[in-house]
Amino acid sequence: MPSPPTRPLRRSLLFMPGDSTRKIEKAVELNADSIIADLEDGVALSQKQVARQTVVASFQRLDFGPTERLIRMNPVSTPLWEDDLSQTILAHPDGYVLPKTESAAQVQRVSQRLAELEASHGLPVGSIRLLPLVETALGVVKAAEIASADSRLDALLFGAEDLAGDMGARRSREGWEILYARSAVVTAAAAYGLPASDTVYIDLADTEGLAAECRFVRGLGFSGKLAIHPRQVDVINSAFSSTDGEIAQARRLIDAFESQQAAGRGVFEMDGKMIDMPIVLAARKVVAAGRRGRGD
Ligand code: COA
Ligand code: MG
Repeated sequence: MPSPPTRPLRRSLLFMPGDSTRKIEKAVELNADSIIADLEDGVALSQKQVARQTVVASFQRLDFGPTERLIRMNPVSTPLWEDDLSQTILAHPDGYVLPKTESAAQVQRVSQRLAELEASHGLPVGSIRLLPLVETALGVVKAAEIASADSRLDALLFGAEDLAGDMGARRSREGWEILYARSAVVTAAAAYGLPASDTVYIDLADTEGLAAECRFVRGLGFSGKLAIHPRQVDVINSAFSSTDGEIAQARRLIDAFESQQAAGRGVFEMDGKMIDMPIVLAARKVVAAGRRGRGD
Protein backbone atom coordinates (compact mmCIF):
# COMPACT_ATOMS: atom_id res chain seq x y z
CA MET A 1 0.00 0.00 0.00
CA PRO A 2 1.50 3.43 -0.89
CA SER A 3 2.27 5.58 2.15
CA PRO A 4 0.00 8.64 2.47
CA PRO A 5 1.48 12.01 1.38
CA THR A 6 3.12 14.07 4.12
CA ARG A 7 0.77 16.88 5.06
CA PRO A 8 1.37 19.80 7.35
CA LEU A 9 0.05 19.32 10.85
CA ARG A 10 -3.20 21.28 10.86
CA ARG A 11 -4.86 21.29 14.26
CA SER A 12 -5.52 25.04 14.45
CA LEU A 13 -6.14 27.26 11.42
CA LEU A 14 -6.40 30.90 12.48
CA PHE A 15 -8.34 33.39 10.37
CA MET A 16 -7.58 37.07 10.30
CA PRO A 17 -8.90 39.86 8.06
CA GLY A 18 -6.49 40.37 5.16
CA ASP A 19 -6.63 44.14 5.52
CA SER A 20 -5.32 44.02 9.11
CA THR A 21 -1.53 44.26 9.13
CA ARG A 22 -1.70 44.26 12.92
CA LYS A 23 -3.45 40.90 13.12
CA ILE A 24 -1.27 39.27 10.49
CA GLU A 25 1.82 40.43 12.43
CA LYS A 26 0.29 39.22 15.66
CA ALA A 27 -0.20 35.75 14.16
CA VAL A 28 3.58 35.29 13.90
CA GLU A 29 3.80 35.04 17.71
CA LEU A 30 1.00 32.48 18.03
CA ASN A 31 1.19 28.68 17.81
CA ALA A 32 -1.33 28.30 15.02
CA ASP A 33 -0.45 25.43 12.68
CA SER A 34 -1.93 27.42 9.78
CA ILE A 35 -2.92 31.01 9.35
CA ILE A 36 -5.61 32.10 6.88
CA ALA A 37 -5.44 35.70 5.72
CA ASP A 38 -8.99 36.43 4.62
CA LEU A 39 -10.03 38.28 1.47
CA GLU A 40 -13.68 37.16 1.65
CA ASP A 41 -16.33 37.85 4.28
CA GLY A 42 -13.95 39.32 6.86
CA VAL A 43 -13.11 42.16 4.45
CA ALA A 44 -15.52 44.93 3.39
CA LEU A 45 -16.14 45.27 -0.34
CA SER A 46 -14.40 48.66 -0.39
CA GLN A 47 -11.28 47.10 1.21
CA LYS A 48 -10.72 44.12 -1.10
CA GLN A 49 -7.86 45.75 -3.00
CA VAL A 50 -6.22 47.02 0.19
CA ALA A 51 -6.48 43.52 1.64
CA ARG A 52 -4.76 41.90 -1.38
CA GLN A 53 -1.88 44.38 -1.11
CA THR A 54 -1.66 44.02 2.67
CA VAL A 55 -1.47 40.23 2.46
CA VAL A 56 1.26 40.34 -0.18
CA ALA A 57 3.34 42.89 1.73
CA SER A 58 2.93 41.05 5.06
CA PHE A 59 3.69 37.58 3.71
CA GLN A 60 6.78 38.90 1.93
CA ARG A 61 8.07 40.66 5.03
CA LEU A 62 7.20 38.30 7.90
CA ASP A 63 8.77 34.95 8.79
CA PHE A 64 6.10 32.50 9.92
CA GLY A 65 8.54 29.63 10.43
CA PRO A 66 6.81 26.26 10.08
CA THR A 67 3.32 27.79 10.14
CA GLU A 68 1.36 27.13 6.96
CA ARG A 69 0.38 30.39 5.20
CA LEU A 70 -3.01 30.27 3.53
CA ILE A 71 -5.16 32.91 1.84
CA ARG A 72 -8.94 32.72 1.69
CA MET A 73 -9.95 33.97 -1.76
CA ASN A 74 -13.42 35.12 -2.78
CA PRO A 75 -15.80 32.49 -4.20
CA VAL A 76 -15.62 31.51 -7.86
CA SER A 77 -19.21 32.76 -8.19
CA THR A 78 -17.97 36.37 -7.70
CA PRO A 79 -15.95 38.53 -10.09
CA LEU A 80 -13.28 39.02 -7.39
CA TRP A 81 -11.50 35.68 -7.40
CA GLU A 82 -9.28 36.09 -10.46
CA ASP A 83 -7.72 39.31 -9.16
CA ASP A 84 -7.37 37.65 -5.74
CA LEU A 85 -5.20 34.95 -7.31
CA SER A 86 -3.28 36.98 -9.88
CA GLN A 87 -2.28 39.57 -7.26
CA THR A 88 -1.71 37.46 -4.15
CA ILE A 89 0.36 34.81 -5.94
CA LEU A 90 3.18 37.29 -5.21
CA ALA A 91 2.76 36.39 -1.53
CA HIS A 92 3.79 32.78 -2.41
CA PRO A 93 1.16 31.29 -0.11
CA ASP A 94 1.27 27.59 0.69
CA GLY A 95 -2.35 27.36 -0.40
CA TYR A 96 -5.72 28.94 -0.94
CA VAL A 97 -8.97 28.34 0.92
CA LEU A 98 -11.92 28.24 -1.52
CA PRO A 99 -15.08 29.45 0.21
CA LYS A 100 -18.58 28.24 -0.70
CA THR A 101 -17.26 25.48 -2.95
CA GLU A 102 -20.14 23.73 -4.68
CA SER A 103 -18.68 21.56 -7.45
CA ALA A 104 -15.61 19.80 -8.78
CA ALA A 105 -15.71 22.17 -11.77
CA GLN A 106 -15.10 25.18 -9.48
CA VAL A 107 -12.09 23.51 -7.89
CA GLN A 108 -10.70 22.59 -11.31
CA ARG A 109 -11.16 26.14 -12.63
CA VAL A 110 -9.13 27.53 -9.75
CA SER A 111 -6.53 24.80 -10.11
CA GLN A 112 -6.06 25.52 -13.82
CA ARG A 113 -5.68 29.24 -13.19
CA LEU A 114 -3.13 28.49 -10.46
CA ALA A 115 -1.15 26.30 -12.85
CA GLU A 116 -0.87 29.24 -15.28
CA LEU A 117 0.17 31.60 -12.50
CA GLU A 118 2.70 29.15 -11.07
CA ALA A 119 4.26 28.75 -14.52
CA SER A 120 4.45 32.51 -15.15
CA HIS A 121 5.91 33.20 -11.67
CA GLY A 122 8.54 30.47 -11.77
CA LEU A 123 6.85 28.37 -9.08
CA PRO A 124 6.66 24.56 -9.33
CA VAL A 125 3.41 23.76 -11.13
CA GLY A 126 0.97 22.02 -8.78
CA SER A 127 2.74 23.17 -5.61
CA ILE A 128 0.03 25.49 -4.27
CA ARG A 129 -2.52 23.62 -2.18
CA LEU A 130 -6.29 24.02 -2.30
CA LEU A 131 -8.56 23.66 0.73
CA PRO A 132 -12.26 23.89 -0.20
CA LEU A 133 -14.66 25.19 2.41
CA VAL A 134 -17.91 23.24 2.26
CA GLU A 135 -20.50 25.60 3.73
CA THR A 136 -23.63 25.56 1.60
CA ALA A 137 -26.36 22.95 1.20
CA LEU A 138 -25.23 22.26 -2.37
CA GLY A 139 -21.61 21.94 -1.23
CA VAL A 140 -22.59 19.34 1.35
CA VAL A 141 -24.57 17.37 -1.22
CA LYS A 142 -21.55 17.51 -3.57
CA ALA A 143 -18.90 16.87 -0.89
CA ALA A 144 -17.71 13.64 -2.48
CA GLU A 145 -17.20 15.14 -5.95
CA ILE A 146 -15.43 18.12 -4.37
CA ALA A 147 -13.12 15.86 -2.29
CA SER A 148 -12.03 13.98 -5.41
CA ALA A 149 -11.83 16.97 -7.78
CA ASP A 150 -8.12 17.70 -8.04
CA SER A 151 -4.64 16.62 -6.96
CA ARG A 152 -3.99 19.98 -5.25
CA LEU A 153 -6.60 19.24 -2.59
CA ASP A 154 -5.05 18.87 0.84
CA ALA A 155 -8.06 19.01 3.20
CA LEU A 156 -11.77 19.75 3.35
CA LEU A 157 -12.95 22.49 5.70
CA PHE A 158 -16.47 22.61 7.12
CA GLY A 159 -18.27 25.94 7.62
CA ALA A 160 -21.42 25.86 9.73
CA GLU A 161 -22.39 29.54 9.94
CA ASP A 162 -22.85 30.07 6.20
CA LEU A 163 -24.51 26.67 5.93
CA ALA A 164 -27.07 27.54 8.61
CA GLY A 165 -27.81 30.81 6.78
CA ASP A 166 -28.18 28.95 3.49
CA MET A 167 -30.54 26.35 4.95
CA GLY A 168 -32.51 28.48 7.36
CA ALA A 169 -31.23 26.33 10.23
CA ARG A 170 -30.98 27.91 13.66
CA ARG A 171 -27.55 27.46 15.28
CA SER A 172 -27.52 25.91 18.74
CA ARG A 173 -24.80 25.10 21.22
CA GLU A 174 -25.33 21.35 20.73
CA GLY A 175 -25.18 21.64 16.93
CA TRP A 176 -27.78 18.97 16.09
CA GLU A 177 -28.91 21.14 13.16
CA ILE A 178 -25.49 20.76 11.47
CA LEU A 179 -24.63 17.20 12.52
CA TYR A 180 -25.59 15.62 9.21
CA ALA A 181 -23.53 18.13 7.21
CA ARG A 182 -20.55 17.94 9.60
CA SER A 183 -20.53 14.16 9.32
CA ALA A 184 -21.00 14.25 5.54
CA VAL A 185 -17.94 16.49 5.14
CA VAL A 186 -15.60 14.45 7.35
CA THR A 187 -16.80 11.22 5.70
CA ALA A 188 -16.33 12.51 2.14
CA ALA A 189 -12.85 13.76 3.07
CA ALA A 190 -11.84 10.42 4.60
CA ALA A 191 -13.23 8.53 1.60
CA TYR A 192 -10.68 10.33 -0.60
CA GLY A 193 -7.79 10.28 1.88
CA LEU A 194 -8.10 13.89 3.01
CA PRO A 195 -8.11 15.30 6.53
CA ALA A 196 -11.01 17.56 7.53
CA SER A 197 -11.11 20.65 9.75
CA ASP A 198 -14.19 21.78 11.59
CA THR A 199 -16.06 25.09 11.58
CA VAL A 200 -15.26 28.20 13.68
CA TYR A 201 -16.53 28.60 17.25
CA ILE A 202 -17.92 32.11 17.39
CA ASP A 203 -18.31 32.55 21.16
CA LEU A 204 -14.87 34.08 21.73
CA ALA A 205 -15.07 34.07 25.54
CA ASP A 206 -16.24 30.47 25.94
CA THR A 207 -13.01 28.44 25.79
CA GLU A 208 -14.57 25.56 27.75
CA GLY A 209 -17.34 25.23 25.19
CA LEU A 210 -14.69 25.35 22.45
CA ALA A 211 -12.68 22.57 24.10
CA ALA A 212 -15.80 20.42 24.42
CA GLU A 213 -16.69 20.97 20.78
CA CYS A 214 -13.11 20.06 19.75
CA ARG A 215 -13.35 16.78 21.68
CA PHE A 216 -16.68 16.02 20.04
CA VAL A 217 -15.53 16.66 16.46
CA ARG A 218 -12.21 14.88 17.00
CA GLY A 219 -14.36 11.90 17.89
CA LEU A 220 -16.17 12.29 14.55
CA GLY A 221 -12.82 12.11 12.74
CA PHE A 222 -11.85 15.77 12.27
CA SER A 223 -8.14 16.50 12.69
CA GLY A 224 -8.42 20.23 13.41
CA LYS A 225 -10.60 23.29 13.75
CA LEU A 226 -10.79 26.78 12.33
CA ALA A 227 -10.02 29.59 14.82
CA ILE A 228 -10.90 33.28 14.84
CA HIS A 229 -9.14 34.60 17.97
CA PRO A 230 -5.65 34.06 19.46
CA ARG A 231 -7.09 32.63 22.69
CA GLN A 232 -8.66 29.76 20.73
CA VAL A 233 -5.37 28.51 19.28
CA ASP A 234 -3.84 26.68 22.25
CA VAL A 235 -7.22 25.22 23.24
CA ILE A 236 -7.58 23.72 19.74
CA ASN A 237 -3.96 22.54 19.54
CA SER A 238 -4.16 20.62 22.77
CA ALA A 239 -7.59 19.15 21.99
CA PHE A 240 -6.28 17.70 18.71
CA SER A 241 -3.01 16.37 20.17
CA SER A 242 -2.78 13.01 21.92
CA THR A 243 -1.86 13.03 25.61
CA ASP A 244 1.12 10.99 26.87
CA GLY A 245 -1.34 8.59 28.49
CA GLU A 246 -3.27 8.11 25.24
CA ILE A 247 -0.06 7.49 23.32
CA ALA A 248 1.24 4.98 25.90
CA GLN A 249 -2.06 3.10 25.82
CA ALA A 250 -2.12 3.09 22.00
CA ARG A 251 1.46 1.77 21.87
CA ARG A 252 0.61 -1.01 24.34
CA LEU A 253 -2.29 -2.03 22.12
CA ILE A 254 -0.20 -1.96 18.92
CA ASP A 255 2.56 -4.05 20.58
CA ALA A 256 0.01 -6.58 21.81
CA PHE A 257 -1.56 -6.76 18.35
CA GLU A 258 1.82 -7.41 16.73
CA SER A 259 2.69 -10.25 19.08
CA GLN A 260 -0.76 -11.79 18.60
CA GLN A 261 -0.35 -11.52 14.81
CA ALA A 262 3.06 -13.20 15.07
CA ALA A 263 1.34 -16.01 16.96
CA GLY A 264 -1.27 -16.28 14.17
CA ARG A 265 -4.20 -14.60 15.93
CA GLY A 266 -6.04 -11.69 14.26
CA VAL A 267 -8.43 -10.99 17.10
CA PHE A 268 -7.87 -11.12 20.85
CA GLU A 269 -8.99 -9.64 24.15
CA MET A 270 -7.19 -6.90 26.07
CA ASP A 271 -8.47 -5.17 29.23
CA GLY A 272 -11.87 -6.76 28.64
CA LYS A 273 -12.27 -5.49 25.07
CA MET A 274 -12.04 -7.12 21.65
CA ILE A 275 -9.03 -5.91 19.67
CA ASP A 276 -8.67 -6.40 15.93
CA MET A 277 -7.29 -4.54 12.91
CA PRO A 278 -9.66 -1.49 12.83
CA ILE A 279 -8.91 -0.75 16.48
CA VAL A 280 -5.18 -0.94 15.80
CA LEU A 281 -5.54 1.49 12.88
CA ALA A 282 -7.25 3.96 15.23
CA ALA A 283 -4.45 3.48 17.78
CA ARG A 284 -1.86 4.28 15.10
CA LYS A 285 -3.67 7.58 14.44
CA VAL A 286 -3.48 8.45 18.13
CA VAL A 287 0.30 7.89 18.07
CA ALA A 288 0.70 9.86 14.83
CA ALA A 289 -1.27 12.86 16.19
CA GLY A 290 1.00 13.02 19.24
CA ARG A 291 4.21 12.55 17.29
CA ARG A 292 3.36 15.36 14.97
CA GLY A 293 2.69 17.86 17.79
CA ARG A 294 5.14 20.67 18.34
CA GLY A 295 5.86 23.33 20.93
CA ASP A 296 2.62 23.35 22.90
N1 COA B 1 -5.57 36.99 14.41
C1 COA B 1 -4.50 37.62 14.95
N2 COA B 1 -4.58 38.49 15.97
C2 COA B 1 -5.81 38.73 16.48
C3 COA B 1 -6.96 38.11 15.97
C4 COA B 1 -6.81 37.21 14.89
N3 COA B 1 -7.87 36.57 14.35
N4 COA B 1 -8.04 38.52 16.68
C5 COA B 1 -7.58 39.37 17.60
N5 COA B 1 -6.23 39.51 17.49
C6 COA B 1 -5.33 40.30 18.34
C7 COA B 1 -5.78 41.75 18.42
O1 COA B 1 -5.14 42.52 17.43
C8 COA B 1 -5.34 42.11 19.82
O2 COA B 1 -3.95 42.35 19.84
P1 COA B 1 -3.37 43.83 20.08
O3 COA B 1 -4.17 44.44 21.18
O4 COA B 1 -1.94 43.58 20.43
O5 COA B 1 -3.56 44.52 18.77
C9 COA B 1 -5.49 40.84 20.62
O6 COA B 1 -5.45 39.78 19.66
C10 COA B 1 -6.79 40.78 21.39
O7 COA B 1 -7.86 41.00 20.50
P2 COA B 1 -9.29 41.44 21.03
O8 COA B 1 -9.27 42.87 21.45
O9 COA B 1 -9.78 40.44 22.03
O10 COA B 1 -10.18 41.28 19.73
P3 COA B 1 -10.56 42.40 18.68
O11 COA B 1 -11.71 43.19 19.22
O12 COA B 1 -9.34 43.13 18.26
O13 COA B 1 -11.07 41.52 17.47
C11 COA B 1 -12.41 40.07 16.20
C12 COA B 1 -12.20 40.67 17.58
C13 COA B 1 -13.51 39.02 16.26
C14 COA B 1 -12.81 41.17 15.22
C15 COA B 1 -11.07 39.44 15.76
O14 COA B 1 -10.76 38.41 16.67
C16 COA B 1 -11.00 38.95 14.34
O15 COA B 1 -10.79 39.73 13.43
N6 COA B 1 -11.11 37.60 14.12
C17 COA B 1 -11.02 37.03 12.82
C18 COA B 1 -12.27 37.32 12.03
C19 COA B 1 -12.23 36.73 10.65
O16 COA B 1 -11.20 36.63 10.03
N7 COA B 1 -13.40 36.26 10.17
C20 COA B 1 -13.50 35.64 8.91
C21 COA B 1 -13.53 34.16 9.03
S1 COA B 1 -14.94 33.53 9.86
MG1 MG C 1 -18.34 32.80 5.45
